[in-house]
Amino acid sequence: MCGIVAIVGHTPVAPLIVDALKRLEYRGYDSAGVATIERGELGRRRAEGKLVNLERRLQDEPLAGTIGIGHTRWATHGVPNETNAHPHFSNGVAIVHNGIIENFAELRDELKKDGYEFASQTDTEVVAHLVSREVARGASPTEAAHRALKRLQGAFALAIMFKGDEDLIVGARNGPPLAVGHGEGEMFLGSDAIALAPFTNAITYLEDGDWAVVRRNEVAIYDIDGNKVERKRQQSLGTSYMVDKGNHRHFMEKEIHEQPEVISHTLAHYLDFANGTSKPLDLPFDFARIDRLAISACGTAYLSGLIGKYWFERFARLPVDIDIASEFRYREMPLSKNAAALFISQSGETADTLASLRYCRSQGLLIGAVVNVRESTIARESDVTLPTLAGPEIGVASTKAFTCQLSVLASLALKAAEARGTVSAAEAKAMVRQLAEAPRFASQVLKLDAQIEKVARELSHYKHVLYLGRDTNFPLAMEGALKLKEISYIHAEGYAAGELKHGPIALIDENMPVIVIAPHDRIFEKTVSNMQEVAARGGKIILITDAKGAAHSTVNTLETIVLPDVPEIIAPIVYALPIQMLAYFTAVFMGTDVDQPRNLAKSVTVE
Ligand code: AGP
Repeated sequence: MCGIVAIVGHTPVAPLIVDALKRLEYRGYDSAGVATIERGELGRRRAEGKLVNLERRLQDEPLAGTIGIGHTRWATHGVPNETNAHPHFSNGVAIVHNGIIENFAELRDELKKDGYEFASQTDTEVVAHLVSREVARGASPTEAAHRALKRLQGAFALAIMFKGDEDLIVGARNGPPLAVGHGEGEMFLGSDAIALAPFTNAITYLEDGDWAVVRRNEVAIYDIDGNKVERKRQQSLGTSYMVDKGNHRHFMEKEIHEQPEVISHTLAHYLDFANGTSKPLDLPFDFARIDRLAISACGTAYLSGLIGKYWFERFARLPVDIDIASEFRYREMPLSKNAAALFISQSGETADTLASLRYCRSQGLLIGAVVNVRESTIARESDVTLPTLAGPEIGVASTKAFTCQLSVLASLALKAAEARGTVSAAEAKAMVRQLAEAPRFASQVLKLDAQIEKVARELSHYKHVLYLGRDTNFPLAMEGALKLKEISYIHAEGYAAGELKHGPIALIDENMPVIVIAPHDRIFEKTVSNMQEVAARGGKIILITDAKGAAHSTVNTLETIVLPDVPEIIAPIVYALPIQMLAYFTAVFMGTDVDQPRNLAKSVTVE
């Protein structure tokens, strides 16, 4: 989950590289560095911590040179300090790397026996020494890089530069993404199109096993056997616009507030509001003919899939097998040949999700990808891309992507129900009308920010929080817990309310606030019983419900957050907002780095 950039151009590249790294900082931000070649010599500046520290270093000690490589790091091997920061050097070879070299230990031992000394604890430095050893053995820089690549096992996106050659960068990809950006008399490499957007939107994505010889006026791409290959050059979609916080304190706050608009865009992509049906969709599989649907994803994307399971099964009577991707990929689940598979991913680059997709591909399933980045690897390896139109999501904690994923899944569940004849035309029209109301209700919920902020202030005094919900509110309870813990660092768990008495109730006392997500629906009374069990043991309850729920709750609560009365099908979309806002305000009170929480990265491209 690091970000890499490389430029071979005709103006000083160091400031350009730093700007590009800023657009990659969401991929990791525990240290950063830049290297350039000036008058035949390699120069390097690195800094621990956020990119702003590297900027300061470069202001104090500028780097010249019209060719360079840069890196922003999410540590996999070696603590996040300057010594372990990329770029790494070895006798005139400079390298930046995203991924994990799985056989780095044996390679390091081999290189040490050859007299190479290691300055860092990173797996990346092994690659630098491998390349420089081949150069020392008489190979040209490009041949040296090719030989080294063939020794590597694991995941890597690389950019390699060679002292003495100011018109050559070698790029390579095996797993984490790497894009070539085509300029006029200049060329670029980057982890994604957003990083390269200000330079060019003419992009070529390398495929796994590819390596590229990049010069100012030409790019040649080869496969791992050294055969020249052609890769499609495309216009990157709309990533040229800059992303900023507007008048919000954090990207997360801005993205929470963008939800009414982006939910509306997403629903409009799939639903014909005028005729009350789903829009035609060029699916490679027929919902009427498949007998099962496999869903796999990670984190918040998995939880949106879990809610989707309720919808596919309830409205379309379509059985869904769902699993977190890191388990799915190794479980080797027997899959029906008459099944289809759906992979959900904001970034479209999550390694575990991609691996699960490839497992399903190997089993002959047809594959759909619900992604927010339409040019991502997961999108490119699917039979159909089902976009969430959330726009770039920069905050590490996923918010608008989640509600847009739910919008896509609700629309797909409706399409499946129409195809399988499990809803009438009138019922479908009613569902479309209800879904169309989601943006309006989401806007209303945003106006509860003052009350939610007050609850968050109270929450910030606790060390542990429990979230409870039933039915589609159970995955929401888990999502609320995930949001809270990943940005405020307060421990939180989401549980099915009915499970409380099977263990978690032992946790309940006055030090354990319990967030209950419970619109007044057909199982509300069951949840009231669970709240009574909590109250009887001194637990402090924060109830998120609607007016009817508030009126029928017979339990004293610390706070009741009353949402508009919403149709059942859109409740998960609307009730996602208060749990996002609660986590956001709590993190602000805790003083954590809301957009870039510790230890995390926005796109997890390693196992
Ligand atoms: C959610 O807030 C987290 N940032 C994380 O769980 C995320 O949802 C997960 O890593 C999956 O990422 P993806 O959607 O890009 O595949």
